[in-house]
Parts: sequence; structure tokens; C-alpha cells
Amino acid sequence: MNRSSLSLRYAARDSGGALTILDQQALPDTERWLEADTVDAMIGHLHALRVRGAPLIGVAAALCLARLADTGVNARALADAARRLRAARPTAVNLMWAMDRMTGIIEAHASGGAASLAARVEAEAVAIFDEDVALCDAMAAHGAALIADGEGILTHCNTGGLATAGIGTALGVLRRAWESGKRLHVWVDETRPLLQGGRLTTYELGRLGIPHTLITDSMAAMVMRSGQIHRVLVGADRIAANGDFANKVGTYGVAVLAAHHGIPFHPVAPWSTVDLATRDGAAIPIEERDPAEVRGVVGSLGSLRWAPAEAPVFNPAFDVTPAALVTSIVLDTGVVTGAELQRGNLANHAPAGTAGGPR
Ligand code: MRU
Repeated sequence: MNRSSLSLRYAARDSGGALTILDQQALPDTERWLEADTVDAMIGHLHALRVRGAPLIGVAAALCLARLADTGVNARALADAARRLRAARPTAVNLMWAMDRMTGIIEAHASGGAASLAARVEAEAVAIFDEDVALCDAMAAHGAALIADGEGILTHCNTGGLATAGIGTALGVLRRAWESGKRLHVWVDETRPLLQGGRLTTYELGRLGIPHTLITDSMAAMVMRSGQIHRVLVGADRIAANGDFANKVGTYGVAVLAAHHGIPFHPVAPWSTVDLATRDGAAIPIEERDPAEVRGVVGSLGSLRWAPAEAPVFNPAFDVTPAALVTSIVLDTGVVTGAELQRGNLANHAPAGTAGGPR
């Protein structure tokens, strides 16, 4: 594959005959690109969060399937690889959405010969990539319109160009508002245990020149009380039909704090994050990760433990925020108010032609 558009972004590249990903466990100080050409390598990167963020993991898995198709394997091998990639992380529905889409193409072109199958699989992977770029732009336009000049905005985890193929979800909204001339100050939750805020969001905001302050997660309450936070923007890994949503662990606590302080709270996500087949947040599968991540820090650049090696640990990677705490959801298709969610109207915001949406 050699698509110039794919080499422009900084989280995954497909150029010069190889698929590579930027190792997000080595950031911010080390920018290291790793090969992700085989399914085993990609699954390893997904497990270790070297490539991460709900939209990006779907895009990266699709590009990996395109690389596999290029080697001339048959449809059965491709479908098997899609199944394995689909299972690599359980919470972000974007991964399943992308793999189901790729599987549909594989099954539809299974009898067409290896070359035409590879061409179709590659075209679909590139389409998923390009669509994600456009979805980010659409979310940014809807979300930036909500932001007033001079706001202080809290965000959690990393939702920018490192987590998507485009400019991001929540961070894309902040970027668009900033580039349109609104003055902002971003409060960045460190996001224990894997520090996506402290390592990645600060890295992106620094590169963009957007004013920001890093805080530990436990400081959010006092900064809200001080009056310096006027809005909260976060991403989402799966939005259930009733508007409950899963996002990086700690998001639920931020939503409770925002409600207590009367601060508007908005998840920002593309429609590929909405899972109408999941009725409510209780039905969202939550990934549990290695206890070592809570006993200390574990990363590509080394590990450090401060808790006893055998300390019992609970390490859910995500939590669920109930729809009742949401002021509005910013989607690529528009803004869904909390009142609409309470009336069960989320499906009305599906893009034209998709299941659950207008045809
Ligand atoms: O475990 P991660 O780092 O993949 O979790 C990422 C998040 O929770 C993001 O907030 C979410 O994927 C939305 S990113 C655009």
C-alpha cells in the first residue's frame, strides 16, 4: 500500500511498503516507530497500548488486515485474522465496528481471486481511515460551537491525533475552537494508571501551542471548586443505546464532580462509537488489565513498582458514566442533548443509511 494521505498523520503510517505505529508507551520523550505488519505484531501493540484510542485501534486493525491481504492469503485466513484482531480489546466498539466492516468485504469478495480480494480489502481499510479523518472534522465543528471565548476546559485521558486518524474527538474540538481564535485553558487530568493525559495529551497540546495545565486526577475537584473549569470534554469507547457510555477509568468520577459543581459535561465521539445493540452501560464489557499497572508504572521505557509485589489490585481500564450526568453528546452527526437521551432519541442521530438511522 502506498497512500500519501496515510503518511500524513502521526499515530499510524502506511508508506514505503510497511505499516508502522508510533509507540505511545514511549512518548512523550521518545518518538519511536514500530513495525505493525503482521497480525501478531498488531495484537501485541493493541494489548500493550502502544497503539490506542477507540477510533485509532479500529483504523490500525483495518490497515493491518490490508497488509495481510497484500501477501496473497485467502479469504478464510483474512476472516480469521479479523476475528483475532476484533478480540484484542473488549470495550472500544470501534474495533468491532471496523472488523465487522472488513469481514463483510472479505465475505463478499471471497470468490474473486486473491488480487481482487486484496484490492477490495485495501480500499476498505483506506476508506475507514479517510472517513475517520472526516468524522473528526465534523465533531470538531459541532463541538467548537459550544465553547465560549476564555473557557477553562477539563479533559481526561487522550483523545487527539494520537487516538484517531484525524485531529481527535474531544481534543479535536479544543483544537478547532483554539484555531478559530477562542482563548482557552485546558486542564489535563493525568489519568492514572497509564497516564495518557500526563504523557500524551500534554505532548499534543504542547505541539499545538494550546495553553494547558497538568493536574493529578485527585486535583480536579478543587480546581472545579475554584471556578477555573467551565466545561468538561472527554472521549468515549462505547456509547450504549440509552446514552450511558464507557470511557477511560476516572471519567465517571469527573462527571459526578462536574454535576456537583454545575459544570457542563460532554462526551465527544463518532457514530462508530455508538452501539445501539448494547441497551445500557451495565451491558458494556469492561477490560481489566495487568495488576502491575496499578502497583507501579509499566511502559516501553521501563518499569517501577512502589506497591508490594503481591498487593491485591483491581484494574478496570474503563468505567461507565450514566446518561443522566451528560449535558450533551457531541457526535459527527450533531449534538444530542441530555433531554433527548432521556427520551431515548439517540438512534435518531444515526447517519443516513446506517442501521438505526434514517434511510
Ligand atoms: O485505553 P485507551 O488509552 O485506548 O483508552 C482511550 C480512551 O479511553 C479514550 O478516551 C477513548 O478511546 C476516546 S479517544 C478518541
